Amino acid sequence: MPFVSALEATNILKSNQVVGIPTETVYGLAGRIYSNSALKLIFSTKKRPFFDPLIVHVRDKIQARSLVESWAPIADALADHFWPGPLTLVLQKNQEVSDLISAGLPTVGLRCPNHPMALKILDYLGEPFAAPSANLFGHTSPTEAQHVIDEFKNQIAVVDGGTCAIGIESTVLSIHQDTLSILRPGAITLNQIEEVLNTVGLFHVWSKTVDKRLSPGQMKHHYMPAKPLFAVSTKIKDDLLDRLNRELKVLPDQVEGVTLIKPKKISTYSELQLSKDPTEAARNLYSQLRTLARGDSDALVFRIEDYHQEQAWSAIWERLSKASSAIIKD
Ligand code: TXA
Ligand code: MG
Repeated sequence: MPFVSALEATNILKSNQVVGIPTETVYGLAGRIYSNSALKLIFSTKKRPFFDPLIVHVRDKIQARSLVESWAPIADALADHFWPGPLTLVLQKNQEVSDLISAGLPTVGLRCPNHPMALKILDYLGEPFAAPSANLFGHTSPTEAQHVIDEFKNQIAVVDGGTCAIGIESTVLSIHQDTLSILRPGAITLNQIEEVLNTVGLFHVWSKTVDKRLSPGQMKHHYMPAKPLFAVSTKIKDDLLDRLNRELKVLPDQVEGVTLIKPKKISTYSELQLSKDPTEAARNLYSQLRTLARGDSDALVFRIEDYHQEQAWSAIWERLSKASSAIIKD
């Protein structure tokens, strides 16, 4: 399958097929929200279970409002401030949104992507599209067009919009009346959301406990590279190869439907070297995981430093901890 233009991608969408599209976070696998066959094709292409809801990408607030029960002042203020951008708002859906998109939940996740080509496709299409990240279920997300080609073995057309500027998925924020909760951390932090709502004077409370039934897709493992990744504390000084092999022996084959890659023995490993700057680290994270997993070593290692537990790193650490087969702290 070839690289295609934004116009060709729109025609693919109009024919109820799926297409890879660039966004500022990661590449998405897009399909029309009003076509059940396109939506089913998204799930089957990704081998994604139907319990995991899709994010709907909208051109603007007007399209967003057309898909929800009510567009509350909190949603309005956050969309004004952060859209187009990496913030997904989870709101009560209306009957325009099929159960395939929402996985049977009463809510829908909406975001306006900040990438000129994604916006152009939304303009040409004249309606929203659904797009999860363009990777197989449980795997590392794509941040370059070539990653999408590789992931789906050349079977999916993709619009080349360059390297994704942010590199990890959007922040997913649930808004239920005046109660907010972060369902997935991303580039936009709780503090930034808090600041906007305080500035416009909108009352809200934060809920830290997330009801798993209302927020599926929070699997223990996700974003996994094609070689096992181990997150290892820098405190561990003993023979790391020995330790990795002991961990390997006790790994289960599958966790919550995600298969763990298990070589017979680990003889060599490569270390993931992330920038100390979290913005830069996020941008390169998935690309580095893919590159290292293509190399010759049997496993990947990420060394956990104290500063990785700071708020600026929370989204990156969430990805790394889920991408890891095991976290070795002591
Ligand atoms: O940055 C992004 O958000 C990317 C780009 C392509 O826009 N998309 C993305 O989609 O990451 P996906 O499907 O890989 O992750 C969407 C996650 C779901 O797994 C789920 O956790 C959450 O968003 N989500 C979507 N709709 C939801 C809903 N109605 N209620 C709760 N969580 C929802
Ligand atoms: Mg994903």
